[in-house]
Amino acid sequence: MAGCFFLIVSQALFNAAQPRPSFYRDVLPILQGHCQSCHRPDAIAPFSLMTYRETRLRAQAIGAAGESRKMPPWFADPCCGHFANDPSLTPEQIAAIKDWIEAGAPEGNRNDGPPTLHWTAGWNVPRPDLVLKMPVPVRLPAAGDVEYTYEIVPTDFAEGRWVQMSELRPLARDHVHHAVVYIRPPESNWLRGAPIGVPFTASTLHDPHLMHEAHSTTSDLLLVYAPGSSPDNWPEGMAKYIPAHSDLIFQMHYTTNGQPASDQTSLGVRFARTPPAKRVLTLQLANDSDRIPIPPNASNYRVAVEGTLPNDAELLSFFPHMHLRGKNFEYNIGHADGTQETLLRVNYDFYWQLSYLPVGAAVSARRHQARSHRPV
Ligand code: HEC
Repeated sequence: MAGCFFLIVSQALFNAAQPRPSFYRDVLPILQGHCQSCHRPDAIAPFSLMTYRETRLRAQAIGAAGESRKMPPWFADPCCGHFANDPSLTPEQIAAIKDWIEAGAPEGNRNDGPPTLHWTAGWNVPRPDLVLKMPVPVRLPAAGDVEYTYEIVPTDFAEGRWVQMSELRPLARDHVHHAVVYIRPPESNWLRGAPIGVPFTASTLHDPHLMHEAHSTTSDLLLVYAPGSSPDNWPEGMAKYIPAHSDLIFQMHYTTNGQPASDQTSLGVRFARTPPAKRVLTLQLANDSDRIPIPPNASNYRVAVEGTLPNDAELLSFFPHMHLRGKNFEYNIGHADGTQETLLRVNYDFYWQLSYLPVGAAVSARRHQARSHRPV
């Protein structure tokens, strides 16, 4: 009898010790760590989740988006690999949001939460050492397809420079599907003869050789931007190299959305403070999209491309890229002992082209394969 009494008392104490859910204590830290990079004024998401009022207004939708794992956007199949930039919520975080909503989305006490994060309206990399803007704006029509648009920007670097961080900031963000900045060293003949400092597309280049070249290059890539992507920030002791007197070639893929616009994308870079021990290279394994013969009514069609690394390497990041018909994407590595390992499997979404930063993929493997599956 006495034991039973004690049991009830301790249960009651336990309940009393469970505080009521609070926005500031339970929800705000999750929003700061997983949502506000996009959900803040002037960022890519359509509404802000900076304050209690903004969040309360959307509480149901936030709970649903969290539970269905629609938000934060992330497309790596949990089957394979671990990624340093995986923003996914843990089951505990999803449950904390749910408990808060079920309790009526109470505000709680401001002092129980973390201080408000101050996001910079400008660059996400700390103070760029150099900002290069596409010299001439690109006019975008309200409708129709826009061909890949290029602009060549000379650097005039008297000596080679090492880039530690870089970021692309489009002006007409709603229209940019992807942007790539290539590094063209002085000895490269890629697109030599194309105009400098003005926008052009392959079809405006009258030389058939140049037209073909616009779509293929072996040049190193400084960085890629796509909606939702973050700036590049290479680990300590590693950096991208821009040889002296290189040109930077901006390749812009614009989409139309009913509104005409004008874009002038800027590149911000921060140089390495000391010369790094390792050089970061971006390799492309590509299929020529003009030659992918998807049969009618095929729901899955596999396209593979493979290559061999010239030397041992450390894998820092994957950027799977396809167009509208892309469905799944897989990276496999063939190890020297003949075994194969899947490093990344992506449920590909055309509108969310993310980079995936593998943890512990420092491999000395030589074979590198990428596979993609395309529906019709
Ligand atoms: C990488 C940028 C990004 C991050 C991080 C992000 N969102 Fe979003 N979110 C968006 C964009 C863009 C949209 C609108 C387009 C869409 O629905 O896909 C959106 C839409 C939403 C919607 C509306 C969904 C619907 O079904 O209409 C909710 C709710 C939401 N986000 C909540 C969150 C929460 C909660 C987090 C953090 C746990 C989060 N988001 C993290 C970019 C982001």
